[in-house]
Amino acid sequence: MRVITQHRLGGPEVLTIEDSPEPRVLPTEVLVRVKAIGLNPLEARLRAGEFPLLGRPPFVLGWDVSGVVEQATGSWRLRPGDEVFGMPLFPRAARAYAEAVAAPALHLARKPASLSHVEAAALPVVGLTAWQGLVDLGGVGEGDRVLVHGGGGGVGHVAIQIAKALGAHVIATASGSKRTFVEGFGADEVVDYTAVDFTAAVRDIDVVLDTIGGDTVERSLDVLRPGGHLVTAVAEEDAGLIARYEAAGRRFSGIAVDPDPVALRGLVALVEQGGLRVHVQETFPFERVADAHRLLDRGHLRGKVVLTL
Ligand SMILES: NC(=O)c1ccc[n+]([C@@H]2O[C@H](COP(=O)([O-])OP(=O)(O)OC[C@H]3O[C@@H](n4cnc5c(N)ncnc54)[C@H](OP(=O)(O)O)[C@@H]3O)[C@@H](O)[C@H]2O)c1
Repeated sequence: MRVITQHRLGGPEVLTIEDSPEPRVLPTEVLVRVKAIGLNPLEARLRAGEFPLLGRPPFVLGWDVSGVVEQATGSWRLRPGDEVFGMPLFPRAARAYAEAVAAPALHLARKPASLSHVEAAALPVVGLTAWQGLVDLGGVGEGDRVLVHGGGGGVGHVAIQIAKALGAHVIATASGSKRTFVEGFGADEVVDYTAVDFTAAVRDIDVVLDTIGGDTVERSLDVLRPGGHLVTAVAEEDAGLIARYEAAGRRFSGIAVDPDPVALRGLVALVEQGGLRVHVQETFPFERVADAHRLLDRGHLRGKVVLTL
């Protein structure tokens, strides 16, 4: 089979296609013939060597996949021919930039019929992050006021929909050109962070879901009501910052997303109820992975970028 690999750290040009033996399927696992691969900003950072999660090259990036089960001898949970999607093994290497992936059956779910393989591949990392941030950590409920930072991005546009499904009043930050796009996912209010200081425009928030980090996390303390909770997908553990939140009577949590099958089933149910859709900004054929990474490197994405096979 073909895989996308890299022998050195660097720009998108380091990504190359090579032949590789098909992965061996262990007990509890299935072999998935990949139809689409979702890309995430983390993978651009790993490619460039900004984050040492996979060690030194050579390695194969990728976690988000959608495809068809080809071998299920390792697992009783799935059958050959099942259409599945998921984010297997994260944060260990899943080697998903490939034509076939061996994955624990428990880390996959049956693809909802209403999602194409491209849409399904776009969902797991961002969907699980938003779900774990809002449902598991944030405990968002009916009538809560939720602020989603980066509402036009991968995590953000899915988080808006999950928070709405939980009954929250949702405010999102995004650049002005994304206002209509973000409102289309159900945001009740959109704050253009390039024109307005969000701390002046927003208050009494129960849960902030942050996908930006830095200054945005520090300043979010000012918009939380007493007892409110900041959940960030980005900020490093910063003892001083956490202490400031705690001293002010607010909570601070960081997310490290994991391939929780309960949350994955929650996402599937929401899709099937019509409460969740995924926006794919652009698809690229497998062979054009370097162009897809150039788009990731530029940032300011609108939803997701996906490779197709
Ligand atoms: N901890 C975890 O387990 C975990 C899991 C998933 C993702 N992440 C991280 O979470 C971050 C977001 O991921 P993603 O996939 O959603 O990225 P993304 O698709 O690139 O989205 C980020 C969005 O933020 C917007 N933005 C940039 N600066 C902003 C600001 N100051 N205020 C408000 N919005 C701003 C961008 O567009 P505009 O500027 O045009 O609005 C873009 O739409 C990444 O750093 C990723 O690595 C962490």
